[in-house]
Amino acid sequence: MNFHVQHDKNQIVFEDNTTIPLYSKEGFKLISDLWLKMSWDQKHAYSFTWLGRPVIQIPEDIIRAQEVIYSVKPDVIIETGIAHGGALIFYATVCQAMGKGRVVGVDIDIRPNNRKAMETHELSNLITLIEGDSTSLKTVEMVKKQVSEKETVLVILDSGHDYNHVWKELEAYSPLVSAGSYIVATDGVQEFFHDIPRAKKDYPNYVETWPTNNPKKAAEDFATQNPDFIIEEPEFLFNEGNVDFRITYWPSAYIKRLR
Ligand SMILES: C[S@@+](CC[C@H](N)C(=O)[O-])C[C@H]1O[C@@H](n2cnc3c(N)ncnc32)[C@H](O)[C@@H]1O
Repeated sequence: MNFHVQHDKNQIVFEDNTTIPLYSKEGFKLISDLWLKMSWDQKHAYSFTWLGRPVIQIPEDIIRAQEVIYSVKPDVIIETGIAHGGALIFYATVCQAMGKGRVVGVDIDIRPNNRKAMETHELSNLITLIEGDSTSLKTVEMVKKQVSEKETVLVILDSGHDYNHVWKELEAYSPLVSAGSYIVATDGVQEFFHDIPRAKKDYPNYVETWPTNNPKKAAEDFATQNPDFIIEEPEFLFNEGNVDFRITYWPSAYIKRLR
């Protein structure tokens, strides 16, 4: 629905003339949802590094991931889709700080410069790289070899974002996830992004499917069909403010293993 921000009256007016206060939780959510779309259009996530490597995330998502990692304290974090390695190194940093854990990164195409940067990084001793399609049997077997049975495992899926690919990843990697830990299907916000100018320009043959063809839907269907898993919003570990929702590219992403 279209809306109009009236700064002089501190309110937001909708097409049907209903209003909400501009400076309210509801107003903040409305503007934040729009901010998410505008930030994606402007490639805001492509402007951060972590310990020298580009990390293609918005800061809130990466900070919330840290909160979950610190709560779960996994022995192994598996990330599919590593790109330049910034997120993988971020997760390795949290492991280093906790004095526990290591990371395994999977990507279909680890470019030589990215590989070199990760293999020579200060945290390289905590990082294992596996090149291959994250859903191929061969790759999944290689990942499984990196994990022993008693270890606590957390998985973050950030490779392909179409429904079928995420579904296959959920099926392949969820058996590795420990009870109480998570498999995280990132970038479900794609569901809401089909009308963004850059989405139409960069993904013309695919964008119309986004409302149903996205990681959020795959995660929700997976949790519905697998009673050992639920979608669970990570608890806010500290909150002295009014906002109790995440401003996120990762809605319905955190799939917790119950047993
Ligand atoms: C969005 S980027 C990952 C960003 C990274 N996680 C970060 O936070 O900086 C997606 C990556 O997934 C990889 N990818 C795409 N399809 C894949 C597949 N089938 N298997 C493994 N990796 C894949 C791409 O090569 C790309 O590097």
